[in-house]
Amino acid sequence: MSLQITLTQFIINQQRLLDDATGDFTLLLNDIAVACKRISHAVNRGAITGKLGSANSENVQGETQKQLDIITNDIMVGSLEWTGHLAGMVSEEIDDIIAIPAQYPKGKYLALFDPLDGSSNIDVNLTVGTIFSILKGQEGHDAKLDDFLQQGSKQVCAGFVLYGPSTMMILTTGHGVNGFTLDQDIGEFVLTHENMTVPEDTSEFAINMSNQQFWEQPVQRYIDECMQGAKGVREKPFNMRWVASMVADAYRILTRGGIFLYPLDRRNPDKPGKLRLMYEANPIGFIIEQAGGACSTGRERMLDVCPCALHQRVPVILGSKNEVDRIDAYHRQYDLG
Ligand code: AHG
Ligand code: MN
Ligand code: MN
Repeated sequence: MSLQITLTQFIINQQRLLDDATGDFTLLLNDIAVACKRISHAVNRGAITGKLGSANSENVQGETQKQLDIITNDIMVGSLEWTGHLAGMVSEEIDDIIAIPAQYPKGKYLALFDPLDGSSNIDVNLTVGTIFSILKGQEGHDAKLDDFLQQGSKQVCAGFVLYGPSTMMILTTGHGVNGFTLDQDIGEFVLTHENMTVPEDTSEFAINMSNQQFWEQPVQRYIDECMQGAKGVREKPFNMRWVASMVADAYRILTRGGIFLYPLDRRNPDKPGKLRLMYEANPIGFIIEQAGGACSTGRERMLDVCPCALHQRVPVILGSKNEVDRIDAYHRQYDLG
């Protein structure tokens, strides 16, 4: 009888390939999995718990928080602060670095997360998710701002969990991308999608068209050309999808290809795009690159961006490699006049 490989078994198998692995990372990932199972349960209960709807508060980005934004943040923090594997945490929902309480030991890793991505979709019962990124900090020390401000290329691991028709974790530790489905009966994530890859070409794009008037010319040009269909320069029809949960759009791209854009927006010069670098763009960008796709700001590879703030926003263009390359080229041509 062949048993499916559990997430824990998969990580331990990977750990055995490394001479200097201590097992700390395996334990940390296990704790993240537990947190995400708790979130999956909380999200799945929906209106039964009376916790849908707004919390009538704002986060550091000035966005109105949902009750579940706060609940899922508390689940992440409560599930990870005691473990002894972390030197600090950063969350979309908390302004400053989340310190490890004095009564717990501090470890060498840093966790950054968006506890509930796509939370505007929660009240309409569409797919939402949790995004996480793991960096290395300084062992035994309270993490400082500088410890967190590392390029995305330094990530040790990144993942996201989808709370959709099934709960899934998509994970990379820098050796490809694998997908695990939560088997609710045994309470474990099991390996269901081995070595996920993003096709290099696509004829499907994802963008919030209602922002069109605020885009720059290179993005206007790219989307115009897609919309022209078979009679235009692309000589093929394009399809459009927009879930408004980046995790769901990213998962679709990991399964059948596509391109996702949340581009620079001219509305507010202090807000160059909507998505946050450290816990949205970098982890998803790392996963997409590891699956053979690409991720860019239009002017720079996402994982090369040097962060200057915890909640920094960036323009995001990710997905099938040839389309990302094309959009980058449109930006270069535009910048050269
Ligand atoms: P969050 O719910 O964590 O604030 O993130 C939502 C993000 C992202 O998941 C999605 O792609 C995008 O915002 C949707 O934005 P619009 O509502 O502007 O389409
Ligand atoms: Mn988000
Ligand atoms: Mn969020």
